[in-house]
Amino acid sequence: MISRVKGTQDFLDLTLYDFIIDQARSHLAVYNFSHVETPIIEHLELFQRSLGEHTDVVSKEMFVIEPKGEASEVKPGEKICLRPEATASVARAFAENGVQTTPWKVFTYGPMFRYERPQKGRYRQFHQLSIEVIGSNSIAQDAQFIKMLDRFFHEKLKLNNYALLLNFIGCAQDRKAYVEKLQGFLNSPAAAQICGQCLVRKEHNVLRIFDCKTSLCQEIYKNAPLIADNMCEQCTSEWKQLQEQLSLLSVSYAYKPTLVRGLDYYNKTVFEFSSENLGAQNAFCGGGRYDQLVGQIGGREDQPSIGAAMGIERIMLLLEQNLDKLRIPQKPALQVIMPFAKEQQMLALLLADELHAAGITVETLLEGDSIKSMMKKANKLGAAHAIMLGEDEQQNRTVTVKNMITGEQVIIAQTELVGYLKK
Ligand code: HAM
Repeated sequence: MISRVKGTQDFLDLTLYDFIIDQARSHLAVYNFSHVETPIIEHLELFQRSLGEHTDVVSKEMFVIEPKGEASEVKPGEKICLRPEATASVARAFAENGVQTTPWKVFTYGPMFRYERPQKGRYRQFHQLSIEVIGSNSIAQDAQFIKMLDRFFHEKLKLNNYALLLNFIGCAQDRKAYVEKLQGFLNSPAAAQICGQCLVRKEHNVLRIFDCKTSLCQEIYKNAPLIADNMCEQCTSEWKQLQEQLSLLSVSYAYKPTLVRGLDYYNKTVFEFSSENLGAQNAFCGGGRYDQLVGQIGGREDQPSIGAAMGIERIMLLLEQNLDKLRIPQKPALQVIMPFAKEQQMLALLLADELHAAGITVETLLEGDSIKSMMKKANKLGAAHAIMLGEDEQQNRTVTVKNMITGEQVIIAQTELVGYLKK
């Protein structure tokens, strides 16, 4: 048997997935977001320029497509890949289509691809719902955006056991000065014993040292300078404003001074929603401000922006623990038509057709099974009624309808069936 590719999943029941998307659609409509779609394939360069060459996603996890034949003459700059996230694509779409109205408030969802080591909650093909506000400089927008997410998780998905981790990583200039300061600290005797991986991070992606899992490194970084203490006046005041506005909007959060997120495009506000109920991969939503991204990928000018993406599989894992609290729409009642013999199949088709046209959910058992096994099947399918068609029914233009819950049986005219079931 040919099995599925490692790190991918078959979804055989999408009830929860659809529930999340339906809830998100109605929630986001209230906040005036609209739905957009971008391609699943993009130029590799888009992510190299936006997420950063030295991030894990770009340096280790990209699915680069090698086209066959003629197309294999693609020049290096035109390499194509499967998207690892959607923010860069949305920013590209904004710039490429010359969108004029800002803030451009959009959401998109679908599969993303990262070549990571698979484990619970971490896949190579996973699904994100990505929400972006492009072209807004106001920190009040960040407060409203975070409140919108918090309300979604709390009120729409009824999640309780989660934390919102928040940090402010300053503007580009602050970051530049801070990176030098942090490198200075790492070159000092106090940091002489950091691990090999952190030595590499020190050169290429120094802000990520804080993610190191080594306890010795963690101990050392307790004395490292913090970005919040090294910000310009404007950023310091915006950070204060953000905290005040979140409190005003009753959003509880925990300040995590070492949260920097794994992608290079962030500045100022960064945040993550995480839950202990998820195990090691505990972040189910992450995001932040990205004021330079549109400019970086070739837009005419920078567009200050904020956004976030949630991992749908991780949210499904959380909802599975919480099903009783959710009002997941019930499937419509199922009616099962059972022709007892070949002679009644034509009639079964006609009756089913009439019910389908009336919008009634019907399964027709056409495999020629015995009455006993058709009854078993109807039970297994969770039928509301079994509609039996034997010789007598055919002759008398009736049907025998069995209520599968009470066991009660009635004989009614075929012409009354739609009305009976609709009642
Ligand atoms: P991210 O933190 O890389 O951010 O991913 C967002 C969420 O996607 C994570 O919190 C997690 O729930 C889910 N996720 C990521 N990788 C995997 C995986 N391998 N398997 C399952 N779930 C995963 C971004 O992607 C940014 N584009 C977020 C953003 C939007 N920032 C601004 N706008």
